Amino acid sequence: MSKEIVLSGIRPTGFLHLGNYFGALRNYVRMQEDYECYFFVANWHSLTTHPDTKELQHSVHRVIAENIACGLDTTKAALYVQSDVPEIAELYLYLNMLAYKGELEKTASFKDKVRSNPENVNAGLLTYPVLMSADILIHRALYVPVGKDQEQHLEMARNFAERFNHRYGEVFPLPKAFNYNSELVKIMGLDGNGKMSKSENQMATIYLADEDDVIRKKIMKAKTDSGPTAPDSEKPDYIQNLFTLMKLVSTEEVYNQFDANYNGCSIRYGDFKKQLAEDMANFIKPIREKAADIQNDKLFLSKVIKEGADKARESASKTLHLVRAVINMNY
Ligand code: TRP
Repeated sequence: MSKEIVLSGIRPTGFLHLGNYFGALRNYVRMQEDYECYFFVANWHSLTTHPDTKELQHSVHRVIAENIACGLDTTKAALYVQSDVPEIAELYLYLNMLAYKGELEKTASFKDKVRSNPENVNAGLLTYPVLMSADILIHRALYVPVGKDQEQHLEMARNFAERFNHRYGEVFPLPKAFNYNSELVKIMGLDGNGKMSKSENQMATIYLADEDDVIRKKIMKAKTDSGPTAPDSEKPDYIQNLFTLMKLVSTEEVYNQFDANYNGCSIRYGDFKKQLAEDMANFIKPIREKAADIQNDKLFLSKVIKEGADKARESASKTLHLVRAVINMNY
């Protein structure tokens, strides 16, 4: 029996961080065992907001290297660069005829970008969700592991797929969000202000490329308070976040000890953070080192990227063949 298809994309803007790791990459690594997986670097998408491409190649290589360092196995999953798959651009063209200006203008991410960057409201930005739909539909993917912020885009992908199927003929399954629900962890920034983010406060974000002493410094500066005043009190969310991180990177004994200290009002945040900092540094170190090795091995990188592109294009060209057939575009 053929496996169900999973697809997800990562924009090569900014460094990958702990939120990306625990919210996405770790799940990709599990999914590659059970599904036919396509993971790609969305470098076309980055042009919508980052027209300067001087750093782009470096960023793309870094994202590829970091994904592999986190456990993605390119003999199991296809890992590729979006711009290596021209079939996506052709499907994007067809889907653009099914997307209405009004609905694109109403998209939350578009409105955000218009607000934050009024001098560069380009058509690529407006049709961002169409390109994302093409990414997904080109492999006829069923599951898309993405966070809440992408749900509206995914709903648009379903709408475009439905319109296409209705107008031309059944080609696309309707893609849905996928998560290992029971284990969905949310990682907040260390300053307690919202989720860990690629671009916002760098001191509040732990990157997979951070050196040990940078990690220590960030954790020692994480927001705390003067401690619990009554036994078994509920943890404020910024404290809970540090415990969440400890649960992910420390041993169970260590976690239980500090949890008990918290509940007994005897916790010393200095010791708590010191322990978390050490365990976090030990957790990140092998990933950082492996990613750096891969990134320096240009021959390996280009081989992996070529293989990914071949796999992706094989699947993409099959879909495009069906698409052209139903649109009556085979001459
Ligand atoms: N829009 C996604 C993000 O900002 C990236 C992305 C592009 C994507 N194409 C995709 C995600 C296709 C899932 C499927 O994170």
